Amino acid sequence: MSEPAVSAEDFEDLCLLVRSRVPIIVLETHDESRALEMLTRLAVKETLPLFNWSATEGLQQLGFGAGMPGAEEDLADPEPMLVSIKKRREPGLYVLCDLHPWLKEPRVVRLLKDVALRYREVGHTVVLLSHRLEIPPELTRLVARVEMSLPDEEEIMAIVREEARSWQEANNGRKVKTDSRTLAQLMRSLRGLTHADCRRLIRGAIFDDGSIADSDLPELNRARFELMNLDGVLSYEYRTAQFADVAGMRNLRAWLDKRRDAVTTTPGAGGLDPPKGLLLLGVQGAGKSLTARAVAGAWGMPLLRLDMAALYNKFIGETERNLRESLRAAELMAPCVLWMDEIEKGLAGGDSDEGTSRRVLGSLLTWMADQRGGVFVVATANDVSALPPELLRKGRFDEIFFVDLPDEAARAEIFRIHLRRRGIAPAGIDPVALAKLSEGYSGAEIEQVVVSALYRAAADKTALDTAHLETEIRATVPLSVTMAEKIDALRAWAEGRTVPAN
Ligand SMILES: Nc1ncnc2c1ncn2[C@@H]1O[C@H](COP(=O)(O)OP(=O)(O)O)[C@@H](O)[C@H]1O
Ligand SMILES: [Mg+2]
Repeated sequence: MSEPAVSAEDFEDLCLLVRSRVPIIVLETHDESRALEMLTRLAVKETLPLFNWSATEGLQQLGFGAGMPGAEEDLADPEPMLVSIKKRREPGLYVLCDLHPWLKEPRVVRLLKDVALRYREVGHTVVLLSHRLEIPPELTRLVARVEMSLPDEEEIMAIVREEARSWQEANNGRKVKTDSRTLAQLMRSLRGLTHADCRRLIRGAIFDDGSIADSDLPELNRARFELMNLDGVLSYEYRTAQFADVAGMRNLRAWLDKRRDAVTTTPGAGGLDPPKGLLLLGVQGAGKSLTARAVAGAWGMPLLRLDMAALYNKFIGETERNLRESLRAAELMAPCVLWMDEIEKGLAGGDSDEGTSRRVLGSLLTWMADQRGGVFVVATANDVSALPPELLRKGRFDEIFFVDLPDEAARAEIFRIHLRRRGIAPAGIDPVALAKLSEGYSGAEIEQVVVSALYRAAADKTALDTAHLETEIRATVPLSVTMAEKIDALRAWAEGRTVPAN
């Protein structure tokens, strides 16, 4: 199967560089075969002999002219290979694949420099081709970088068509099923990937069941996340939620509905400022984390979770870099929901952290201010006293919502949701009576009541009824009792500073 042609602009850029007599060209790409294809065309066009090196294959001449000097030795070791190139007299294009691990060795670096400095005499162009290259300072002035552009939507669409055709041929002419909305989301999911990766993922999506469907998207997004090497303190969350699973939050849901299009479609469309995100502040167990998952589920966007505590668990001094890389990674996954759960844990800062948490806060605020849309932040916090005031200032988040304990209607709904989830029809059960009895209980506590009542019913060998649930409610002391003062203080703070989620 042939890849679509290398883009004309990439090819022109590379020709120009070679003609402008740059001794070392750095080409960073995951798509080695396409890069080699492009370099082969270049060698033909410029009538240069082309050599290719890797640690496994040694140095080989590509195309015609095998049997030239060097072909008899294999030269798998970088040092003798570079010595050999240095000795050669006729101009050539030397493509060194994955030399990067050796760029830490002084002799290898010096040999590369020797070759480069002789450019005027012999005209060897060296191309360093790796997925990622850090050029040692000795060489920086002798180097030019080129980039290979990634496929655009049209090219991705061409790959989809090719793969669909090949599935069809293998399946007695049956057609691949899909729809335009899913295809549009597919395009978005593949943005930023190389041709080779796009093809592999598209093929995987089609060949499992002959269709490109909604169900393929989470897997595609996760694969993209891994290909971009984004794991670390940022994790891809498979488990999103739907608002059907969330009771209450009426205000919040109305607010989200108004912003849905602005986040999920082109940023800045219609002259609206792209929404940046919201902070959910409130009582523990009231459904903040659940709501964060539901935002991603409702908007059909990937959910990325930034583990605030893990930012610090890595090596000292790496914290800010971890944060920067995570934020950049989130941008690459856009549009997406970036979920920072219990944000106070990463920003509170002890005496011992030498200002790290201040700097983390600074980086985070700067990024939020510069963000141009596509990454929608959902932060949650239980403890406002641990939050730095800068974060709460107007304009940081689009809105701060206060998630209070559920009111009576919401409590009845929470009973219904959790009974339904466990396959129990509420026919014989009275959620309204239960809601009246569970004043001051959080959603998490109500869920626990349902779980325990089911155990009690199982022990009694009877079906679950309202009485079981009532017994469990009476047996529970909710946090709103044990932590009454703390919750009152939180409510007092929230008054006037936040908007009720309910
Ligand atoms: N409003 C709600 N509707 C439905 N379930 C809820 C609600 N609030 C809490 N729950 C249940 O309690 C669990 C824990 O809530 P969680 O979202 O972790 O609370 P928080 O993050 O505010 O501490 C949820 O996974 C869900 O099962
Ligand atoms: Mg939580």
